[in-house]
Amino acid sequence: MEQAWWKEAVVYQIYPKSFLDSNGDGIGDLQGITSKLDYLKELGVDVIWLSPVYQSPNDDNGYDISDYCAILEEFGTMDDFDELLAAVHAHGMKLIMDLVVNHTSDEHAWFAESRKSKDNPYRDYYIWREGKESGPPNNWGSFFSGSAWQYDEPTGMYYLHLFSKKQPDLNWDNPNVREEVYSMMDWWCRKGIDGFRMDVISLISKRPGLPDGIVPSGAFYADCGCANGPHVHEYLQEMNRRVLSRYDLMTVGECAGVTIEEAKKYASLDGKELNMVFQFEHVGLDDDQYGKWTDRRVDLRALKRVLSSWQTELSKTAWNSLYFGNHDQPRSLSRFGNDDPKYRTVCAKMLATCLHMMQGTPYVYQGEELGMTNCPFGSIEDVRDIESRNAYREFTQKGICSEEEMMRLIRLRGRDNARTPMQWNAKEHAGFTEGTPWIMLNPNDEGFHAEAQRRDPDSVFSYYKRLIALRKKRDVIVYGSYELLEADHETLYVYTRSLGEERLLVICNFSEQKTAYTVPEAFRGGSVLIGNYKREQVPEEVCLKAYEALVIRRAG
Ligand code: NOJ
Repeated sequence: MEQAWWKEAVVYQIYPKSFLDSNGDGIGDLQGITSKLDYLKELGVDVIWLSPVYQSPNDDNGYDISDYCAILEEFGTMDDFDELLAAVHAHGMKLIMDLVVNHTSDEHAWFAESRKSKDNPYRDYYIWREGKESGPPNNWGSFFSGSAWQYDEPTGMYYLHLFSKKQPDLNWDNPNVREEVYSMMDWWCRKGIDGFRMDVISLISKRPGLPDGIVPSGAFYADCGCANGPHVHEYLQEMNRRVLSRYDLMTVGECAGVTIEEAKKYASLDGKELNMVFQFEHVGLDDDQYGKWTDRRVDLRALKRVLSSWQTELSKTAWNSLYFGNHDQPRSLSRFGNDDPKYRTVCAKMLATCLHMMQGTPYVYQGEELGMTNCPFGSIEDVRDIESRNAYREFTQKGICSEEEMMRLIRLRGRDNARTPMQWNAKEHAGFTEGTPWIMLNPNDEGFHAEAQRRDPDSVFSYYKRLIALRKKRDVIVYGSYELLEADHETLYVYTRSLGEERLLVICNFSEQKTAYTVPEAFRGGSVLIGNYKREQVPEEVCLKAYEALVIRRAG
């Protein structure tokens, strides 16, 4: 398989608002990030993905951009950004930016023009329609509750917003929009950034005629059916020709609704579109008729089935990105593992082993390397996220659940779980800020902060360091083929990786029960490459401890 730096890289995602506050206003900022590059270098990551830092009224924490070429004031200045970029490069790392171009903020200059009149030159930058029978043009729902359409007084028409009403969708069918986006991307590339994570890029091409969708039972609106729309590949190929192919970049598309077949187009190894996609199948396994607002747990057999089909089907034709968590998902340890204090450390290490030993580019979400967990938000007043707040209002007003029940679900599934401040040390507010943090800290930070964990060879942090370093040393981890064993086992996730003569056996116990496992003959007498319990010998019959992870290597 052709080698590439972005296949060998480990990416660390920073959610700037919650990373480190350098000026005491309670909000993380760019200078805070610059001051922590040694920490990231020590962890061993190669690429930093910055969630949006552009000018924004912050309706959706920066995913609503009002100026793509300016920095949000509370994060700092363009000089701070330039300093950060230079410092990242001086540390031998790379920086990729969030590219949010499915929509802008309603405070973007293009939209300010667009809404003025029907014949404004910017009118067609967005998606405007007449209403139907005094209601919206179709039955699509917004991902943040309610209709996906907003009536706008000045011209008496509706505009489309798949997210909040302050995030109007751009009209990608308009070539001028595409030109504007490409020239803005080019501007950032010329600054020297190393790539883009493309926000909901699978949604940019809307179906012609914007037809009504089917409203699922229990839901109020239809899915827009915009995923993988008719021109999405054409537009990405154009973007690739015009911008991406001219620089040495890493690109990852956030692709809600992507199937394996579609992913092979987005992330084909022929390099015509993107390097890789974020797929959503494994993080949708615990959804039900109300979408994410449920307390279902992921069934391990389903998780294995989904991840394994992505592993094997993309092999040799496209490339995977590997993630269990990010700023939109609950904490991976609480969701896929067990955050009980008794198991927290060992389970965080097990999940990391399971993910980082797969084929693809792994993403570490800030705090995951410390074993951060979901947060016990008390009431809706503690919650900042627009998605959770809107869903809370909708579900409680429509009588789907009580306020207590909805808070319970938000504590399990809400996005703010991943957005509580990074835990740096034992000082007040875990060293995140000297002011008042914009969102509560997770109260269970004791011992789960960077300062303590850097010193402790048995910490989650030290384990991540070892895992990441291993990937650098062993090509089999990056390029080896993947095979699932024990597909029907309810609590063990077992797979092999093979490259030439080298083979690895990865065994992860997803339960607190001790579990016996017979090591396949080929791996008997192999050596332990890494594991989260002390174990030197590999017996024929191994009794895995609670949440044990074990990687056995057989060479030649
Ligand atoms: C996906 C982003 O990751 C999420 O945080 C955001 O709310 C939506 N896209 C809208 O931009």
